[in-house]
Formats: sequence, structure tokens, C-alpha cells
Amino acid sequence: MTNGVSVELNDLTRVYGSVKALDGLTLHIEPGELVALLGPSGCGKTTALRILAGLDEATSGSVSVDGRDLTNVPANKRDMGMVFQAYSLFPHLTVVDNVAFGLKMRGKDKGQRVSRADEMLELVGLTAHRNKYASELSGGQQQRVALARALAIRPRVLLLDEPLSALDAKVRVQLRDEIRRVQLEVGTTTLFVTHDQEEALAVADRVGVMSQGKLEQLAAPAELYANPATPFVAEFVGLNNKVRAEVSDGQVKLLGASVPALPGSVTAGAGLAMVRPESVTVSADPAGTASVTSVAFLGPISRVYCTLADGTVVSAQMASSAARVFGPGERVTVGVEPTGVLVVAAA
Ligand SMILES: Nc1ncnc2c1ncn2[C@@H]1O[C@H](COP(=O)(O)OP(=O)(O)OP(=O)(O)O)[C@@H](O)[C@H]1O
Ligand SMILES: [Mg+2]
Repeated sequence: MTNGVSVELNDLTRVYGSVKALDGLTLHIEPGELVALLGPSGCGKTTALRILAGLDEATSGSVSVDGRDLTNVPANKRDMGMVFQAYSLFPHLTVVDNVAFGLKMRGKDKGQRVSRADEMLELVGLTAHRNKYASELSGGQQQRVALARALAIRPRVLLLDEPLSALDAKVRVQLRDEIRRVQLEVGTTTLFVTHDQEEALAVADRVGVMSQGKLEQLAAPAELYANPATPFVAEFVGLNNKVRAEVSDGQVKLLGASVPALPGSVTAGAGLAMVRPESVTVSADPAGTASVTSVAFLGPISRVYCTLADGTVVSAQMASSAARVFGPGERVTVGVEPTGVLVVAAA
């Protein structure tokens, strides 16, 4: 079911004194779509979200929803539901009253408020907690109430600004999946702001990677991961190995292999290939020119760090069962899986 509307941010700039928080941000979101805005601290994510909500004004550019320009529409008339990083519930109200709060502001009668709030609590799985005070809930439960409250008003657009960042790792993953399930169920067009790449790739239809107030790339998660358009995007989605490479005729020679060059790569000559740790292979080889530097155990997977003959350090990611055979100082040969790589000019 989709009852979403389209959202357009058109060439937004926002200047604070000498800081350009947004510098020509253009982003179009399809009806019912969930777009994650991903980028490092200070790149302008919250600023973009606040301008869309009407809580801040752009220096130039425009915002429209369902084809209608919102420049002169105040925040309380924009019909947007918001969830923030910090818990923003009223601690002295019960869970059900928190969820019903926006409906009261909109003049709904008590019966309507309670039935809608209960419907939303069921959606987020908190019916059993309806009569508790917000202050009696865990962080994850509070954020689910905040989500139910944001959706209770049947918003045209749902805005989430790092809603999971105050939670511990396990709850984060659970609630992230929960948010996506609920969003698909209600079909509300959603902008989800995060600086966590895994989170963005996991929940979104498309991910917009931002840097310094601009969009670097907007693409589906798998596309972004396989074909990062710029070195910034490549690094941000975890392609953090830089290995010397030679490009000719669309092929890249690196680590003794030849693989396709991704679009955007240098077209000929020497460069640095950006290779994700999952694509690096390591094999024990007494005659190898590389050596293992260290092994980091991460549960089911491990990272094996190797130093190449030229001094470059490369990290390889593999199942911990496979990594177990490697120890520091061991001679190895480092190779690469036959997937495309982005090659940037050597600095
Ligand atoms: N009200 C303000 N006054 C002055 N500068 C501001 C204001 N709000 C944001 N900025 C600046 O604008 C830039 C973008 O800020 P913004 O909060 O949008 O970043 P962000 O991507 O959300 O970062 P984070 O991941 O840390 O939340 C930053 O340099 C910030 O210091
Ligand atoms: Mg922010």
C-alpha cells in the first residue's frame, strides 16, 4: 500500500554566518519511498530535514510536497511526523496519551484519539505498555512510542533524524528493521537521516550520500555499494583499502589480478584502486611477498591486516573460521576477487 506523496528539495542553500550548511542540495523522493541521507557529522543532514519540516528557512532554493511549493506554509501546517535522536516524549504522560498528543492538538475527540493511538501502539508492538508512563520505558521502547506518535497524525511525510543513535547496538538493529516494516506497511514517504552506513544501506530504498552540503550520489543500496560514483562515497560505504593499480582499456591490474574498472575511474595509467575488505583474498604462502600484521576478531567475521611489499596495509574480511589459520608475521599472498573497482588518481 502506498499513500505517500512525492517530496522535492530543489537547489537548497543554507548559510549560517560563514558556514554553508547546505550548498545546492537537490533531492527528489518518490511517493512511498524511504530515502536515507547519509553523511559525516556537519555535512548538513539535520539542516536539510529542518528546512523540509519548516523549522528552518533556506537561504535559497525551494521545497515542494506532492508538487506544491511549501515556502510559505508554516511548520504546523505541513503535516509531517518527526522522530528525533533524543527521546522527546512527555515523561509525565502515559504511553497512550503521548501517542494521542498530536491528535488532541488537531481537535480530534477523545474516542477518536484513543482508538487511533491504540491502533498505532499495536503497529509498533507496545499495546501491553499503553498505560505506563513514558519514563518507565526503555530507550528502544520510547523511540517506538515516538514513531507511533509521529504516525498517529497520518503525516504526509515522515522525518527521522538519527532516531537510533542513542540506543545500544542490538536494539538499534531490531528497531531499524521495525521502522522499515512499519514504514512499508503505512506507505508514508520518509526521509531517514543517519551517519551510519550500515543502517542507511539496510533500511533505505535509496541512499543519498552527502558531503559538505551537497549530494554526492543517490542510488539504491546495492548500486551504491557496487558502483560508488566518487572516492568519498567509496570510502563512506566501506571501500577503505587503497591499493596501487594500473589502468588500461577498462581493465585494472592490481594484486596480481586483472579486474574491470568502474565508471568514474582514471582512464589510463597508474592510480589507487579502492577495494572493499570482503574482496581481498589472503592465502598462506611461504614464498609470499606480503605478511600478516594483525588479526581482529569481530565475532562471525574477522579482519586480517596484511602489509604488502611496498608497505601498503590492506585489510581482508573473512569468516572467522577461515581467519583462524593466520597469525602475525606469517608470509602470505594477497589477491582480489574479480569484481569491478574504482581507481582514483594517486595523490
Ligand atoms: N543554528 C545554527 N547556527 C549556526 N550554524 C549552524 C546551525 N545549525 C547548523 N549549523 C552548522 O551547519 C553545518 C551543518 O549542520 P547540521 O546540523 O545540518 O549537520 P549534520 O549533518 O546533521 O551533523 P550531525 O551528524 O553531527 O548531526 C554545521 O557546520 C553546523 O555547525
Ligand atoms: Mg544532525
